[in-house]
Amino acid sequence: MQDHKIPDDLAAYAARLREQLNWHGYRYYILDSPEIPDAEYDRLFQELQALEAAHPELMAPDSPTQRVGGKPLEAFAPVRHRLPMLSIRTETDTSPEGARAFDVQVRRELDLNADAAPMEYACELKFDGLAISLRYEGGLLVQAATRGDGETGEDVTQNVRTIKSLPLCLRGEAPTVLEVRGEAYMSRPDFERYNTRQRAAGLPTLVNPRNGAAGAIRQLDSRQAAKRPLSFFAYGLGEIQGWEPPDTHGATLDALAAFGLPVSVERTIALGAEGLIAFHDVVAKKRDALPFDIDGVVYKVNRLAWQRQLGFRTREPRWAVAHKFPAQEQLTTVEAIETQVGRTGALTPVARLKPVFVGGVTVTNATLHNADEIARKDVRIGDTVIVRRAGDVIPEVVSVVLDRRPAAAQPFVMPETCPVCGSHIVRPAGESVARCIGGLYCRAQRKEALRHFASRRALDIEGLGDKLVEQLVDQDWVHGPADLYALDAAKLANLERMGEKSAANLVAALKRSRSTTLARFLYALGIREVGEATAMTLAAHFGTLEALMAAEEDALRQIPDVGPVVATAIRAFFQEPHNQQVIARLRAFGVHWLEVERQPTATRSLAGQTFVLTGTLDTLTRDQAAERLRALGAKVSGSVSKKTDYVVAGRDAGSKLDKARELNVRVLGEAGLLALLESSS
Ligand code: IVH
Repeated sequence: MQDHKIPDDLAAYAARLREQLNWHGYRYYILDSPEIPDAEYDRLFQELQALEAAHPELMAPDSPTQRVGGKPLEAFAPVRHRLPMLSIRTETDTSPEGARAFDVQVRRELDLNADAAPMEYACELKFDGLAISLRYEGGLLVQAATRGDGETGEDVTQNVRTIKSLPLCLRGEAPTVLEVRGEAYMSRPDFERYNTRQRAAGLPTLVNPRNGAAGAIRQLDSRQAAKRPLSFFAYGLGEIQGWEPPDTHGATLDALAAFGLPVSVERTIALGAEGLIAFHDVVAKKRDALPFDIDGVVYKVNRLAWQRQLGFRTREPRWAVAHKFPAQEQLTTVEAIETQVGRTGALTPVARLKPVFVGGVTVTNATLHNADEIARKDVRIGDTVIVRRAGDVIPEVVSVVLDRRPAAAQPFVMPETCPVCGSHIVRPAGESVARCIGGLYCRAQRKEALRHFASRRALDIEGLGDKLVEQLVDQDWVHGPADLYALDAAKLANLERMGEKSAANLVAALKRSRSTTLARFLYALGIREVGEATAMTLAAHFGTLEALMAAEEDALRQIPDVGPVVATAIRAFFQEPHNQQVIARLRAFGVHWLEVERQPTATRSLAGQTFVLTGTLDTLTRDQAAERLRALGAKVSGSVSKKTDYVVAGRDAGSKLDKARELNVRVLGEAGLLALLESSS
């Protein structure tokens, strides 16, 4: 066969494209700090793809186009680990004693006497995924294997190559052989996104991120695996040739990061048992906010020479221990399924559970979302179920343990009338939510509406808590928000758990709440589809309540972010005589605001700018600052990304400020913010 002669410049061009794509992939996935927009990355990618399609000879194993393999495998080939993949001893005592016991044991085994310097430990997170061994030869990723029984695993190279944050080619001067051990996992956002997509398509969802990762890794078709995006963190070494690792575990991880491998930044070097305990505590507090699941922390003796001296006990090293956190999933039983009625009348089935300690709290209720979800999971009263509480999300019933289902387990039936007010329940075709049509006639909806009206971001009525709202509605003293202002201290003082002093305080809070802003007032009314941001937009756009109330749907739809559904909801709300009456009564009771100067959205001075607020400000609260920024058209977001325009850093600003500096986002102090607000209004 005749050799295809590729012009030198074409081969060099392909190599250059690969190099650029690998660099930008590294900036994006590892450093979290892209230099080019996503669209430009895609353009380079497509160019390389086209070039390789036209000239298959140009293909290279580390080409970013080669992450997803060709045809599905028949089965996974066995891989014998050159160095066994061990596991670590798990300390199930979640108290500080677990850390102390480990430190005592390490020092005893090293024959260190009591006055020796405290031991140095590398502390890491215990990632909740799947252990994987990666093998790089001459810097190229040649094999990835699961742990298996520790001696022999399975060759899952094709699937591991789909993990975008893993380099197919190491950076810098690569060792002859470098085996990296670490954990493949699914991030919480990727897990949520995947499940949302599956749910919308009526397809099965993943039970938890760990199962998602395990399933993706064990897919025979790598194109399927690529649909479940995974991530990876390196935490150790296997076989190495042609490279001398540093003296400590901590420095080894730094070296792996320098090779371009993903290494978690949530790690530290700690001194002695007290250092371990401090790390455990810090991580336990952060756990819910991490973008991935962990089930504890890992302590490792930092000095590799000491690790060697300590050696192994059967299958576990003596130099490492995993210190667990309370589990995020537990088994319990469903004692009943009840329906709750929300502010908009939406009926949410809730499982009443036998109390169970999960994710650090005792859980007695878990949401079942809606009737479709119950049917899909086939949850019945009496079932044993897995309950999950991870992050600060609402506890959820994950799945049923079918082989523990009692014969008498009862399927759930959605009621035909509202369990609170007896009104009809409607479920429009194509919608998953069933609603009570009782409106404010329904006590449940009335209570929710009042809670919302009084909430901090609405009229902010201090002291009007859930229990009080219950009583006020159940006593029939309050039918709608305006009735609140007719309450007097003498009457209130008669209520349960209400003294004269708290009654007087509540009346004072009610009085204070009458002076508000138009945006807060609109939000407080609880118009469907009108959240806080839309309320602010409407207030700034129309300037007065009268102008908004008179606006036709067409005029409403002119406003950015107000689509047909929102416009219809707003119009319908203000046309309803009952609502007009409520508004008139509230104003008669003295609820008022300063008229805002009318400002069409697009021309507001901070339109299109995104701010993140962090730390403590001295002259105003973060909420107040956010409100003022939003009133000028700015977006206020909770997390810093490359799309953030400004980070406002008050006292004791933490990781968001670090992130801003890392991403080169402009940082304003309090004075800077005030100056900006001043000059923009
Ligand atoms: S070190 C010789 N470090 O936990 C020590 N393991 O039994 C080898 N794991 O399934 C393990 N995070 O996949 C180590 N930072 C970490 C880890 C970690 C999670 C997993 C590992 C294995 C189990 C340990």
